[in-house]
Amino acid sequence: MDVRLRENIYWVGCVDWTVRDFHGYHTHKGSTYNAYLLGDEKTALIDTVKAPFAGQLLRRLPELTSFDRIDFVVCNHAEPDHSGALPEVMRACPRAELVCNEKCRAALGRHYDTSAWKFRVVSNGERLSLGRRGLTFIDTPMAHWPESMFTYVAEEKLLFSMDAFGQHYASSGRFDDEEPLDAVLEEARTYYANIVMPYGKQVARVLDRAAGLEIDTIAPSHGIIWRKHIGDILAAYRDWVICRPKAKALVIYDSMWQSTEKMAQAVMEGAIRPDVDAKLYHVRRSDITVLASEILDAAAIAFGTPTLNGTMMPEMAALLTYLKGLRPAGKAGFTFGSYGWAKGGAREAEDFLKEMRFEILGEPIQSQFVPTGEILEECRARGRELSDKAIALASRAR
Ligand code: FEO
Repeated sequence: MDVRLRENIYWVGCVDWTVRDFHGYHTHKGSTYNAYLLGDEKTALIDTVKAPFAGQLLRRLPELTSFDRIDFVVCNHAEPDHSGALPEVMRACPRAELVCNEKCRAALGRHYDTSAWKFRVVSNGERLSLGRRGLTFIDTPMAHWPESMFTYVAEEKLLFSMDAFGQHYASSGRFDDEEPLDAVLEEARTYYANIVMPYGKQVARVLDRAAGLEIDTIAPSHGIIWRKHIGDILAAYRDWVICRPKAKALVIYDSMWQSTEKMAQAVMEGAIRPDVDAKLYHVRRSDITVLASEILDAAAIAFGTPTLNGTMMPEMAALLTYLKGLRPAGKAGFTFGSYGWAKGGAREAEDFLKEMRFEILGEPIQSQFVPTGEILEECRARGRELSDKAIALASRAR
């Protein structure tokens, strides 16, 4: 199956239809590991695939070229989903030089026995001629590892963007005009939220660099290739790098004997209004990967947890710990929850919000056992504040 991007430029990656857990990221739609082959007078393989797919890659390459004609293997990113096949590829391609930056060489040396590999270390902005066309390397540190880089083919206005603009999305189509745009953008958002969100500032710099390039095609390392909707994905990234808030309010909770659930439903009743996208999630009936994606563009979030053994419910602690690492920016929110004989859960959840620099919308609402009508009315009022704040933050960010 040849997937041609340009004359003598092919996608040679692998589709991982059945992967559902990608180091904790729930990949409901599978994924792909994209590699590309570019041939001129000299031939370059750009990135490889995850180790279990090395055989598939090595069976595909001889359909397009012979192993001894591959001059360069470019490694844009050392993470094993892209570099895992390198040991087999470097063994199979006797003439190939491994092209990467200095940080990548060091990282690869920590993953594999690279003693027999011929490295060609390149610097930011350096161009490697393949003949009629050339590869220009652009360092993109922390997007999303320190050694990450883009490879750009100016003659074709083609950007190999590594993880950036990618999606965990297995499909038979390879291009953005062959798959439903909404579904692809949704997976791109989930990918950004769960993988890239902590590095928004660095990715913003990457976008500035990309803005200086003429681009007709963006070929990432995961998912579909952008050739028709480049403006859509770049605009989406412009929003995501600053966690640009929408008029969206979330109520996320856990409950033991439905007391905190009653409070959550009351907060939700207050939050619902026509001009706000308000959603309620039970944390143990929801997917943490999806919740991170929802939180990326939500303006205001209420977290509810009962007190269990003096602390939060474990799934709420897991979510907040995960979010703390993802560092969502510019959010507002508050916490609530029931307790029996000692408080603790809602206050501890609030500590996480403070660490994430949430604007705190009032003291935690706490109920000893079953909430009274008065407490439920307080929850409704706070829900209204949550939505008011969501509208205010969204209009300020426009
Ligand atoms: Fe797809 Fe950061 O590896």
